Amino acid sequence: MVGVKIDCPAGYTSRGYAGPSDHAAMAAVLTDFHLSGDDGELVTTEQIDLTYSHIPAEDLERNFVIIEHVDDGLVGYGRAGCDDTPEGHIHYWVAPLYQKHMAQPLFTALVKGLGNRAAERAAEQPELTHLIRCWMPHPGPGESVAGTAVAWLQAMGYGEVRFEASMVRPHLDDILDLPLPDGVELRPVAADQLRTIWDAAVNAFAGGFGQQQPKEEHWLEFRDDPIADSTLWKVAWAGDTVVGQIRSFINHEENEKLGRLRGYTEHISTHPDWRGRGVASALLAASLREVRDRGMTEAALGVDTENPANAFAIYERLGFKLTAYTAVLDRPVIL
Ligand SMILES: CC(C)(COP(=O)(O)OP(=O)(O)OC[C@H]1O[C@@H](n2cnc3c(N)ncnc32)[C@H](O)[C@@H]1OP(=O)(O)O)[C@@H](O)C(=O)NCCC(=O)NCCS
Repeated sequence: MVGVKIDCPAGYTSRGYAGPSDHAAMAAVLTDFHLSGDDGELVTTEQIDLTYSHIPAEDLERNFVIIEHVDDGLVGYGRAGCDDTPEGHIHYWVAPLYQKHMAQPLFTALVKGLGNRAAERAAEQPELTHLIRCWMPHPGPGESVAGTAVAWLQAMGYGEVRFEASMVRPHLDDILDLPLPDGVELRPVAADQLRTIWDAAVNAFAGGFGQQQPKEEHWLEFRDDPIADSTLWKVAWAGDTVVGQIRSFINHEENEKLGRLRGYTEHISTHPDWRGRGVASALLAASLREVRDRGMTEAALGVDTENPANAFAIYERLGFKLTAYTAVLDRPVIL
């Protein structure tokens, strides 16, 4: 495979995807990129295996590229994707590079190549609204970005449209005891409920910022997620209806490598008819107790700082503190 065309600076070359033999090196690059933010997450090879097993070969052929350095081998990669959302057709890209190789000429060349690919795709459907989107670690709203990748992106026409926050609860003491509304109960998850739980989450997130129309491959990734442990989940039911859910997970490999005992209390949602009655708060308190009882000493989650239900405040009330920002940056597609 040739991959996305990149005009690499001296010392670097690009090539297409070679298959699962690339995955361990890609996981290492993505982990290094995540750790460049203040609160990084480790990515396992199994997670990359799963994600890429659901991407059609034709998609990888056209929308993916590996970057190699003459001495260091695989030092980064780029992937361009496309989501159908209420805001229009969003062409997103990811372009993780090892910190050591994160320099403006290489990064800019990679982003330019991915942007050109997005423009080619957009030209195939000129009647739709298109924009290009990416996510980058950011020092925070109003803070100087001089010398960072955000500044390089701004020079290429990208602008910040939203901030996501990483939040950590640095200890698992003093967890509030919060009740669920009358008639709502927690039940252990049975294997034949997975699709119902997935559908409930999709329904709860629908129409939110950047939410895409779910595709079958997303359900398969959910079903087969190697890190998922449904015994950690807190799913609240009223009869046959999923009222709310938090699907916590523990990345043991990450904890071992980073020397911490963290549980992620993530994928938080409440059925639209049940909001504002303390469901998410009660499920979060129960989830914190669950990860604590599994031996963890801290919890973490990510949140859109402009979440319309002010989820940030719900999490603060439960003891989470902001640790890092990621900016969402957009640019119009230039056809
Ligand atoms: C964000 C979300 C999970 C909140 O769920 P929720 O069950 O409504 O949350 P809670 O009821 O615990 O808290 C919401 C508000 O209701 C208030 N509340 C709590 N108990 C209440 C009660 N008994 N009666 C009335 N209001 C109550 C809370 O104080 C909070 O108020 P605030 O917005 O002024 O801070 C929900 O809006 C949702 O699913 N949104 C879409 C998916 C999403 O964005 N998920 C978050 C991803 S990070």
